[in-house]
Amino acid sequence: MQTKGNNGPRYRHQVQETSEYTTIGVAKLTPIIGAEISGIDLSKPLAPEQQNEVHRALAENQVIFFRDQDLTKEQHLAFGRLFGDLHVHPAAPHVEGLPALMKIHADESSPRANGERWHTDVSCDQTPPMGSILHIHTLPPHGGDTLFASMYAAYDALSDRMKHYLNGMTALHDGESNYRGTYKNFGVVDKPSYPYAEHPVVRTHPITGRQALYVNRGFTIHLNGVPKDESAGMLRYLYEHIENPLFQCRFQWKKNSIAFWDNRCVQHRAMWDYWPHTRSGHRVTVAGDRPFYRPSV
Ligand code: SIN
Repeated sequence: MQTKGNNGPRYRHQVQETSEYTTIGVAKLTPIIGAEISGIDLSKPLAPEQQNEVHRALAENQVIFFRDQDLTKEQHLAFGRLFGDLHVHPAAPHVEGLPALMKIHADESSPRANGERWHTDVSCDQTPPMGSILHIHTLPPHGGDTLFASMYAAYDALSDRMKHYLNGMTALHDGESNYRGTYKNFGVVDKPSYPYAEHPVVRTHPITGRQALYVNRGFTIHLNGVPKDESAGMLRYLYEHIENPLFQCRFQWKKNSIAFWDNRCVQHRAMWDYWPHTRSGHRVTVAGDRPFYRPSV
């Protein structure tokens, strides 16, 4: 929400109040996005109430973090399955024999690191992933943080006129430019084609009912139904807007930390500031639904 006049900040966000939790601890990183979860061991089967509370903490905070989770690959996959079917990445390398366990790795010889631009995971899919669960086991001495931005807050901060312009509009998301040749250094052979899809620019979250901006530098090619130069200018404005630090939290990894983000309302960006050191882990991605826009009442 934007404010008029000189009293208070320009943007006033709809802050999610913390609800009561009985089986986990939930400590917010910022009033807008991110919370660290404690009192839980993800290597063990979760009781139904604990699983519900993790799900609720994700819905309320958009990205949640866990520390000291020494998980096997199977335990990591099993945790992901609690939230839905697992998504198999259309291009990225995976652990041999485990297609749903994506490798996240950069070292001295890497030409690039994963996720260096602001993006939503695989938004080029017809049904993009609901969430991603990243476990980092090898860290550089310093750096390698990940930034997360709330697309609810980015939407809420738009003017009513801009919301009106964007509500109900669609955009093309394409995997081709993002994926072709990208994983050559891992020995990945390109597919004949990569997914593409049209999605609403403003996406209604199926659980919370809140509106979120759903365009990103990684995959969005153009806005539909407007001239090319208008689309390019509008996307440039939206990308700058989305990257306002007010909407962000920044996570500093430690060995065996986990980040679980909701791709329906969050964008993220990985910092490759640690070259020539190594940073390594695995990502389990939970399948999602087709994005939709439902007008607010
Ligand atoms: C990703 O985009 O999934 C990578 C994020 C990271 O390495 O921090």
